[in-house]
Amino acid sequence: MRARSCLAIVLAAGEGTRMRSAKPKVLHQVAGRSLLAHVLAAVADAGVERTAVVIGPGEDDVTAEAKRVLPRAEMFTQHERRGTAHAVLAARPAIARGADDILVVYGDTPLIRPATLRRLRAPLAAGAAVAVLGFRPADPAGYGRLIMSGDELIAIREETDASHAERNIALCNGGLMAFAGKSALAILERIGNHNRKGEFYLTDAIEIARGQKLRAVTVEAEEDDVRGINTKRQLAEAEAAAQQRLREAALAAGVTLIAPETVFLSADTKFGKDVVVEPYVVFGEKVTVEDGAVIHAFSHLAGAHVGKGASVGPFARLRPGAKLGERSRIGNFVEVKEAVIEAGAKANHLSYIGDAFVGANANVGAGTITCNYDGNEKHRTEIGKEAFIGSNAALVAPVKIGEGAYIGSGSVITDDVPADALALGRGRQVVKEGWAHRLRSLKLLGKTRSR
Ligand code: UD1
Ligand code: MG
Repeated sequence: MRARSCLAIVLAAGEGTRMRSAKPKVLHQVAGRSLLAHVLAAVADAGVERTAVVIGPGEDDVTAEAKRVLPRAEMFTQHERRGTAHAVLAARPAIARGADDILVVYGDTPLIRPATLRRLRAPLAAGAAVAVLGFRPADPAGYGRLIMSGDELIAIREETDASHAERNIALCNGGLMAFAGKSALAILERIGNHNRKGEFYLTDAIEIARGQKLRAVTVEAEEDDVRGINTKRQLAEAEAAAQQRLREAALAAGVTLIAPETVFLSADTKFGKDVVVEPYVVFGEKVTVEDGAVIHAFSHLAGAHVGKGASVGPFARLRPGAKLGERSRIGNFVEVKEAVIEAGAKANHLSYIGDAFVGANANVGAGTITCNYDGNEKHRTEIGKEAFIGSNAALVAPVKIGEGAYIGSGSVITDDVPADALALGRGRQVVKEGWAHRLRSLKLLGKTRSR
């Protein structure tokens, strides 16, 4: 049988007021990714070919985010906020072009899973005209109630319009719907705004479909899938739920998380086999950790690649562009940014390595700093393989340390150092025999001024 084509319409028009934020609601983040990006990724992963995003007037940053995540997304503007059905019809040109299935998804339900979207579409293939994603929330306040008769959905009643008996229904509207493409426009165009709020309610589609002798059904989902976000409290709850999912997935994939509840992941964090993550580690966006690596406690990683068998932390910070080779070691209070650390190289204590290359098996001593910024521009430091940088060296970039070279502790290195050389850039030590003894004698005589 031919696969059914699908158009997804993502409703993402403004109204971030309850977030108390200058930022549009759908650009807030969960697990290091915008709400909109989560939804668009789920839609794409569910095998949806065409996606239309409906935004409010002038929401250019929402357009930019949609295009970043899904360059082929078509953008439509809903010029006035007149209800969910009105928002769907803002994408009328996309609907009119035709699709077997039309999915309507809200931009503020970031935890929706591709598998749930597929399940929602399934009844359409079996002849239903509309399928609604239902759920049984712990607290149904504010949600539309699903009125069932056997396995058919008869109506959705918005809470403001519901009778007392209807409010006691536990099964609620999660807000996601799937329409059979061939009857969608005929249903959507008949939706009116005769309700308490005077809005065009998408939920009226059910009674209209039934009036046209079409079938509507409910597909049940878990609360997390349809968790809608209107407030910062709900954003925090969604974050907790997302983290829980990501930790479970990491554990299931074989990552050892010693205290999973203390590890924070991003939606795109990637782990190899036999990785160990100690307690209290934060993974920002775009981190890959290869087989056998260990991330010790209290480390923060973002935009970093950790090679096989490498060791990071405790208390390490890997910033974007940090690329650690196999068996390399980045120890406590070491910060690495935009730097390649080749296989077996070490920086074990109290260092800043930025805009740098550290060759294989080089040893970067405690307290070493790459002075990469002159207040105006960033410059590079190159450290050849097997070089040995003594403790507390300042490498003033641009500078190159040759392979196998030695840098004396406490040096300030401003000129390139050839391979296998020793470079010293510090005051020579002066020893004055008996000086301290003489000082003490003078003090005893109360004559310290004459020293
Ligand atoms: C809606 C449902 C309700 C369901 C609940 C689930 C309707 C009439 N009601 O109520 O049955 O239980 O979601 O969370 O659909 N939007 C626009 N333009 C508009 C109005 C809304 O783009 O003119 C978008 C919003 O950005 C949001 C989504 O549609 O992403 C839902 O709108 P919202 O006002 O939150 O609907 P609810 O009252 O929560
Ligand atoms: Mg809502």
